[in-house]
Order: sequence, then structure tokens, then C-alpha cells
Amino acid sequence: MSDSEKAKIILNGKDYECPVIVGTEGERGIDVSKLRSDTGYVTLDEGFGNTAACESSITYINGEKGYLRYRGIPIEDLAENSTFIETAYLIIYGELPTRKQMSNFSQKVLRNANLHEGMMQFFDGGFPFSAHPMAILSALLNSVGCYYPHMVTNQREQDLEHFDDAAALLLSKVRTIAAMAYRMKNGLPMIYPKRDLGYSQNFLHMMFTEPYHEYYPHDDITKALDLILLLHADHEQNCSTSTVRTVASSGANLFASVSAGVCALWGPLHGGANMRVLQMLEQIHKSGDDGSKYVEMAKRGETRLMGFGHRLYKTYDPRAVILRKAAERVLKIIKLKDPLLDIAQRLEEKARSDSYFVDRNLYPNVDFYSGIILKAIGMPIDMFTVMFAIGRMPGWIAHWHEVASNPKGKITRPRQIYQGEPERKYVKMRFREGEIPSDYEADEHKSFGDGSSENASAKA
Ligand code: ACO
Repeated sequence: MSDSEKAKIILNGKDYECPVIVGTEGERGIDVSKLRSDTGYVTLDEGFGNTAACESSITYINGEKGYLRYRGIPIEDLAENSTFIETAYLIIYGELPTRKQMSNFSQKVLRNANLHEGMMQFFDGGFPFSAHPMAILSALLNSVGCYYPHMVTNQREQDLEHFDDAAALLLSKVRTIAAMAYRMKNGLPMIYPKRDLGYSQNFLHMMFTEPYHEYYPHDDITKALDLILLLHADHEQNCSTSTVRTVASSGANLFASVSAGVCALWGPLHGGANMRVLQMLEQIHKSGDDGSKYVEMAKRGETRLMGFGHRLYKTYDPRAVILRKAAERVLKIIKLKDPLLDIAQRLEEKARSDSYFVDRNLYPNVDFYSGIILKAIGMPIDMFTVMFAIGRMPGWIAHWHEVASNPKGKITRPRQIYQGEPERKYVKMRFREGEIPSDYEADEHKSFGDGSSENASAKA
């Protein structure tokens, strides 16, 4: 809090002072938490574009300058030097691990890779083949907690006591559930994880190995997947993370909270955008358009340029910059000439020289190039958002912990400005289509509800 700085709100000629909270990078927020009790007024900020819901020490974003830092370390530095699992440790525990901590953490993640055999039944007729893997993922992340009842007590102290185990377990099992969901949907036999493989390599093994053909991914393919996961590992108070924090604020356990995060991530304006980007690029390619027509449609408001725009970034999303280079590298390695990369680059150039996009600060976001890499890896399009969910797991876990371990934490419960009908009376069914008779009040006591026997007896 800043002692020297205060915000003044003048309401009906009367002054109210609100404290100013200053973040470690100098961001400033007006603390309005006492405004209603002091004045009767609330603040209105639909979509929370201007509202800080909490103070957090996990991730810092400066959308104007294009900075993204996990626990203070720039994303470019982590992308260059770290791995997904090391970054997950950093996000969850706040520090880069020592050699010993890293080894223990990796071992713990590895030991938890298998699913309880009871859970395998879900993949044997428990879901229709048409089920979307995000629906399966959300359902099974919540279900997995049922096999560890001591971790899902919904009592903070007890759930926190088992936090280290629960965190490693979720990080590991989210990947196994994702791979199993893919195999079930495609009628493929289940492939179990291996003890001698790293995190991303194990995932690719579970996805693509066949009983008669072991899949050995090229090192650079494994690295590219690991990089995608690392770049998605956290992004402060986005829609799914806010959802996780909201669920956690009620005292719900980690498993239930991240399961809700998966549902929030699914939507096309959030994690679902990565599959929409690829569908858009394919549609442009099939129609023979070079991107110009699509850009014009987006400008007329008939569609959106998927993978463009961001609530926070008003310049390049630093993750998109890294992924653009990675996409070029991956396609070179596997000697694939993907016309979709050319279209994506052309779209970016067109949009960046068009005043509609320039004036609104619409730049490529993380989803714009990730789909091209995932496609090159052989990932089916309906698994794209699932990949985002696997990547985002460390962030959800860290945010759950931040909420659960805050002794001053409050349940998330926003206010609203009610704009509906003023108080009015219940009207009986027989009066609803015509005018209400003047003796309505007297008649009101003669019969029940709509007069049907079912309703009458229910009331009796
Ligand atoms: N294409 C065309 N126009 C756009 C786009 C886009 N992708 N994004 C925003 N605009 C326009 C809007 O029409 C609006 O124009 P107007 O001022 O003339 O009405 C203006 O830019 C502001 O848009 P909002 O929707 O108010 O911006 P907001 O911050 O609420 O939305 C969002 C951000 C949802 C990401 C938006 O840019 C979008 O829909 N992008 C496409 C979907 C996408 O890529 N989502 C992934 C986001 S990253 C992530 O979740 C991982």
C-alpha cells in the first residue's frame, strides 16, 4: 500500500478516500473494498477489464511492453533454458529447483503417471467415441481425486497437507488422461507410460506408440512440444485461472478446482482458439484466398481473426514471437512445407499493416502459431485445447495454492447492478394470457396455482 498516494471519489459532493495498492512492478490499483459499506455504491466493470481480483506473486504481465515473467523470470529466458517440468516447479513453488529438488519432483511426477486401473473402465464404454476430449479431461480430473480421498477433504488444512503429492499427481495424470482419451476416441489400444522417458516424450509415447511399433519422437519434436507446454504454464488472471481461483475460494479441493478450469478453457475465446486458428487457416487455404478476403470479413465484424487480439497485450504476445520461430524450425526439421504457415505469416503481415488491426492493437496471440506446430507433430485438432490444459496445469495448481493458503482469503462473490423488473405479484396461470381481472386479489385465495390437480395436490 502507498501511504502518500490516495484516490478520492466524490459522490454527491462528498469526498471518500480509497487507499492505493502498489505492485512490485509499480502497477497501481485503487482499493475499493470498503466503498459499498462507506457509501452504498459498488463499482461496475463487466468482463473485469479494469479490476484486479486479487494480489498475486506468480506471474507478471505488462501488456503494453509485451513482458511475461513467471516468478520474475522472463518467458524468453525460460523458453531458451528451461523445461516444462522445471518451469512447473518454479511456478508452483516460487523458486527454480536445486538439482536434488528437481530430481525428487521429476521422480514424483513420473511415479504418478499411471492411472488407477479402476479409472481405465471409463475408457471402456464410459464415454461415447464422439465425446470431446476436453469433456473427458474435465470429468476425469475431478474423478481422479475420488481415488485419493485424503487429498480431497475440502478442508483447507488437510488438503494443503497433501498439496505436494496432489500437485505432482495432477501434473502427471493430466497427460495420461489426455493420451488415453485420444486412444479411446480412435479405437486404439491403451499404451502405458514408461519409466525411462521425460515428461513430453512420455506423452508422445502414450499418444503415438502402437503395440507393434514403438514411437520414438525426434528430439526437436519433443522439445517443441515441451516449449508449447512451458509457454502456456501460467498467464495470471485469465478466464480459466480466475475460474480455478473462484472455485478454490469456496474451499473446494484442488481436483475440483482444476476440473472447472478445463471447462472454462474450452471456449473459443480462450483455449479453444488454438483449434479455431487451424480451422480458419485450412478454410482460407481451401477457398484459395490469400487471407485478404478473411481479413476484410473480420473488419466487417462477420468473423474474428482467430489467434489475434488479447485482453492484456497491446503489442506482440511474447509467446507468439517465440512460437513463430519454433514453427519455422519444426517444419524445417521434419522437412515439411506446410502452406498453412505461409498463410499465417501472410495474415499476420496483412493485419499488421491494416489500420483496423493497428488502431485496435490487435497482434497475434499465443494460439496463432501453436496449432501449426501441433499439427506438424501429428496432434489431431480436437486435442489442441487439451494440450493447452496440460500446459496450464502448473498455473492452476499454483493459483489454487495461493488462494487456499491465504488466511485472509474471501469467497469470490461479485456484486451486480440489477436491471430487471421491480417487485410484482405472482400471476396465476389462468390469468396470464389476458388482462388481470380487477377482483384478482379476492380470487387469488379461491384455488391453487394453475388449477391442475397435480399442482393443486402438490400445494395441498
Ligand atoms: N478479429 C477482429 N476484430 C477483433 C478481434 C479479432 N480477433 N479481437 C478483437 N477485435 C475487435 C473487436 O471487434 C472490437 O472492435 P470494436 O472496438 O470496433 O467493437 C475491438 O477489437 C476490441 O475487442 P474486444 O472483444 O472488446 O476485446 P477483448 O479484450 O474483450 O477480447 C479477445 C479479447 C477475446 C481475445 C478477442 O481479441 C478475440 O476474440 N480474439 C480472437 C479469439 C482468440 O484468439 N482468443 C485467444 C485469446 S489468448 C488466450 O486465451 C490464450
